[in-house]
Amino acid sequence: MKKIIIANWKMNKTFDEAQRWIEYINPKITTELLNNTQIILCPPAIMLDFIDGLLLDDELAEIEKLKGDVEQIEQKELEKLIKNLRKINLGAQDCSSAEKGAFTGEISAGMIKDSGSEYVILGHSERRQLRNETDEIVSQKITLAVKANLTPILCIGESKALRESGEFKNFLKSQLNKSIPEDLKVSKLILAYEPIWSIGTGIVPTCAQIIDTLEFIKTELSNNSNIAEFKILYGGSVTAENSSEILKTKNVDGLLVGGASLESEGFLQIIKS
Ligand code: PGA
Repeated sequence: MKKIIIANWKMNKTFDEAQRWIEYINPKITTELLNNTQIILCPPAIMLDFIDGLLLDDELAEIEKLKGDVEQIEQKELEKLIKNLRKINLGAQDCSSAEKGAFTGEISAGMIKDSGSEYVILGHSERRQLRNETDEIVSQKITLAVKANLTPILCIGESKALRESGEFKNFLKSQLNKSIPEDLKVSKLILAYEPIWSIGTGIVPTCAQIIDTLEFIKTELSNNSNIAEFKILYGGSVTAENSSEILKTKNVDGLLVGGASLESEGFLQIIKS
């Protein structure tokens, strides 16, 4: 089973820095690596189209090497070749809870799809805490993401106080139930368990805590007959030093990496682990 590694850049990087990151990592991703790993990059939304273009340049150069003049290849065939050569999939870090209209500053799920992205992170704890996003808002966003043919990367996770009170499973269950729309058919969902006490703190739950919590989430998601397929990721203070051990932990289908995804060599080490 392929592990999914997601880079969440948050609000970091200039266009130049983004280009250098892509130019460093993309040529180093081998077919062998892609047999075991799926890589998803979530940069700031304004960079999605630009990064899609950088990846496309690499793919077209590769196709030219393999098949000769790209201009002579039929459009459908060309699109298929490009898709097969794509090593890094793209995702946004959020989308609007409205489909379109007078919402100054917002970006719709449809626009994200249009920019060459296939994924969108929703309900990240920073948005829940700093932008007062409720489960109901997250649920509206999931509906629109699915409608736009994007795969939602839904984030859930408890605070330190909830973990210590022992009430965290009830909280996670309620986040799941309220964030995932009741009557929506979801063909593919990526669920990222990100305990708030671990994000950016350097504190990582023990293997036993990860196994137990992910098992609980797995059971809850399995009980939802509207979700055809799901993967469960761990996120919070993942580094090149601890990634291999976390990936080996039972129930972990992949990682959502924040801070440690910014530096290209470090992130490459995480992919390789
Ligand atoms: P971190 O962030 O890896 O910097 O802890 C993870 C996240 O917020 O997705």
